[in-house]
Amino acid sequence: MRRIDDAGELADLHGCVLVPTMGALHQGHASLVRRAAVGDRPVVVTIFVNPTQFGPREDFSKYPRTLEADLRIAEAAGAAAVFVPPSDAIYPRGLDAARTEAAAWPLPPVATEPRLEDAARPGHFGGVCQVVARLFDLCRPCRACFGEKDFQQLRVIEQMVQHGGDRWGDLRIERCPTVRERDGLAMSSRNRYLTEDRRDTALGVYRALQMAMSAQRPSTAETLMRETLQDHGFEVDYAVVRDAASLRPVTGLEAPCRALIAARLPEVRLIDNMAMPIWR
Ligand code: PAF
Repeated sequence: MRRIDDAGELADLHGCVLVPTMGALHQGHASLVRRAAVGDRPVVVTIFVNPTQFGPREDFSKYPRTLEADLRIAEAAGAAAVFVPPSDAIYPRGLDAARTEAAAWPLPPVATEPRLEDAARPGHFGGVCQVVARLFDLCRPCRACFGEKDFQQLRVIEQMVQHGGDRWGDLRIERCPTVRERDGLAMSSRNRYLTEDRRDTALGVYRALQMAMSAQRPSTAETLMRETLQDHGFEVDYAVVRDAASLRPVTGLEAPCRALIAARLPEVRLIDNMAMPIWR
């Protein structure tokens, strides 16, 4: 497996399958790489902790950086190359200019209308779109794999590519299912912030989603999720059932919907989601 630090070395990998990450890789990322490796195209994993998608009071400086272990995981999962760009390869005009550009990024509706991550983390999706667009420009993938765990992010990137016209050719975004621990906790780089005794508390998010699955109506699902999260000691940012495409409130019971949660413990904010059964 090649390690690439210089964007100039990416030319022979154009047409690759891209797996963008911020590092701190776990088995969820490994499953993205394995999925990307299906077919005959080389898989390129990118590792870049993108400052423009973090708010001023968020965890950019303490975000786990585990490059040596990441390289081993990426290689074992089948990556042909790992691109670890220095900041100036992504933001050649410097970070201040990048932050200004991110704040003005023309966002697709699913990044502004749902009032989910967009409301809880203002500015976040500007930074995500900016860095993902830059990685697509540099790597020119034919496919890119993203996990369903960050479901609104996945929808934002799908819409960005849809609205991008020819910019990235026939680029296809592939949805990859959330990978869970045996007890149901969704794998996340931020799970490293959980202390041993908080580990069981964190399961409240999965339990809340299971409660939602057993409900007969979206409104009941939302009540059950909120109660379960509060019983586990979470501060709830949102616990909602939404249309799975627009992520706006559900209007009828015909379209596929998704339960989505963001909830906070003192040391970590967890997000998770699940496809809901069709209610009739
Ligand atoms: O999901 C992530 O790890 C990041 O938001 C992404 C897509 C790599 C952009 O920095």
